[in-house]
Amino acid sequence: MPNHDIERIKNLLGTHEDFPKKGIVFKDMFPVFQDPTAVEALIANIVHHITSTYPEKIDTVVGLDARGFLFGPLVALRLGAAFVPVRKQGKLPGECVSAVYEKEYGQDIFELQKDAVKAGSRVIVIDDLIATGGSAGAAGELIRKCNATTVEYVFIMELDFLEGSKKLDAPVYSLIHL
Ligand code: ADE
Repeated sequence: MPNHDIERIKNLLGTHEDFPKKGIVFKDMFPVFQDPTAVEALIANIVHHITSTYPEKIDTVVGLDARGFLFGPLVALRLGAAFVPVRKQGKLPGECVSAVYEKEYGQDIFELQKDAVKAGSRVIVIDDLIATGGSAGAAGELIRKCNATTVEYVFIMELDFLEGSKKLDAPVYSLIHL
């Protein structure tokens, strides 16, 4: 992606101090969606990165609740891959696998529908931001429980100082490092 596109996306991000609680500097990616050309540049960059780095077919894109649901299906469509959501506990019907995780501000449980990710499949995990890596790590655990492989974790933003990517079992690609 040309540097000016990354700068443009960076400039569109909102910053909110003390949200959702004191001490958190919240990075808001929703303003990016007000500019369709920025969304196009973002998706094109991610898809180009994946197809040029991993020539072997990607079977499934797993998007994390909730902002991973915005980018995940767009990336999956262009890869010709399935899209599967990981959701907070109690939101998905049918038999699910679950994993507990710590986040920057509290604890949560993630779930994945048991038959949605096939054994042996190659998976990309996508979310808007990696902070401590707790939620992405839980998604990785769910994918292992399905006997599938996480090929890479993809984020728009990475909070480098929290070192979340060190917790993960596959390479991490983040467009913007903060
Ligand atoms: N999720 C966890 N930490 C966050 C932050 N600082 N901004 C936006 N989303 C987050």
